[in-house]
Amino acid sequence: MVQAFKVRGGHRLQGVVTVSGAKNSALKLMAVSLLAVGETTITHAPDIDDLDVMSELLVRLGCSVARDRNLGLVRIDVPQSLDHRAEYDLVRQIRASTALMGPLIARTGAVDIALPGGDAIGSRGVDMHMDALEALGASFTTEHGYLHATAANGLQGADIVFDFPSVGATENAVLAAVLAKGRTTITNAAREPEIADICEMLVAMGAHIDGIGTSSLTIDGVEQLSPVVHATVPDRIVAGTWAAAAVITAGDIFIENARSEHMALVLNKLEAMGAVVDRDAVSPNSAPAVRVRMDGRPSAVDVVTLPYPGFPTDLQPMMIALNAIASGAGMVTENLYESRFRFVHELARLGADVRTDGHHALVRGVESLSGAPVEATDIRAGAGLVLAGLVAEGETTVFGAHHVDRGYADFAENLRRLGADVQRADG
Ligand code: EPU
Repeated sequence: MVQAFKVRGGHRLQGVVTVSGAKNSALKLMAVSLLAVGETTITHAPDIDDLDVMSELLVRLGCSVARDRNLGLVRIDVPQSLDHRAEYDLVRQIRASTALMGPLIARTGAVDIALPGGDAIGSRGVDMHMDALEALGASFTTEHGYLHATAANGLQGADIVFDFPSVGATENAVLAAVLAKGRTTITNAAREPEIADICEMLVAMGAHIDGIGTSSLTIDGVEQLSPVVHATVPDRIVAGTWAAAAVITAGDIFIENARSEHMALVLNKLEAMGAVVDRDAVSPNSAPAVRVRMDGRPSAVDVVTLPYPGFPTDLQPMMIALNAIASGAGMVTENLYESRFRFVHELARLGADVRTDGHHALVRGVESLSGAPVEATDIRAGAGLVLAGLVAEGETTVFGAHHVDRGYADFAENLRRLGADVQRADG
């Protein structure tokens, strides 16, 4: 089935939008639930299909999972005895399935998981995940596309030093260390708000973690953890996408449930482009909100993507789209993914002037873009192309809408509510 967004550009976006919980947290919180026998409830879960894939992974491990998509609830009943295999048909669909490794080794002493492979944005290895789990006592072999790990003598605390603050590897190290014997230290840990969210849930479950939100974590292993009810942290990437949509359309959007402290650099960059940002606004619904307003054409800015608190790679395509219609030129440097500039060639189909050289993209702003069919290659590229379509003359068809659905619940509906002319064309 061909799934596309049909966008007619030229409308100023105005109004209120509410951000749900973060995809990249909710999926991992589901993996966290494996660490405690009994019923865990995750609230504020986003209404996206990836959570069904994670649910199915948990069901195959022996859990019962009930999900209410409208209420944003996921209830996971975890049995005493778990299976430890995660199959390729599911793992290939979501990178977040790698977060099952730590909990499964900790709970069952073993894991068999399909190697996730690469994807449209890069090669995405798991070497750092394996190194961290090996330091804690796991041994790995690889066979027929699967990683097999066992921890014959159980897990022991260790000192883990990452060369690079990998989000997934930090998560796996934490998820295994909370039930390991003794103390684990993690140096150069990733400190994304989604990792702090996982750690806060673990602490509520009875784990001992110091340094949450910093790059040095100290974990004292405990015998067992108890299930909890936990609210997913708001999605800073979705919030940032709405903020960029306000700027690109010279609009005025109240973003409810956005945590401005998780978006500091993003909001600063948008201000540098000319936006007026109110971090403590109150929406017309009387709810706290981040308000982003723009008059006229943005000024181009330079952007360098880096691990948190640096500028998030997941908002890089939106910044290229913004620079594409800005006055002046901006240099965008991508440090996380080698293939994330693939979408630039699609943006060029709309008339953008972007030159890439290695991990740099020089974007020279043009007066206007002109609508054309384009192809989304991943979630964020798709969102960036839709944003470009909002200001392109005529109609832009963004194929590969299913990628966008993975990160943005009801994207077209939300855009329409803000005044955009966007339709889904599935057929
Ligand atoms: N890397 C390795 N080896 C490893 C681990 C990572 O080479 O063992 C490399 C990756 O190939 C990549 C870089 O390090 O080039 C960053 O990887 P990291 O582990 O930090 O990221 P991730 O856990 O794979 C999560 C998000 C991504 C987000 C990144 C960076 C999930 C499911 N995914 O990925 O989100 O871009 O952190 O913030 O949490 C998205 O939502 O669209 C998305 C891609």
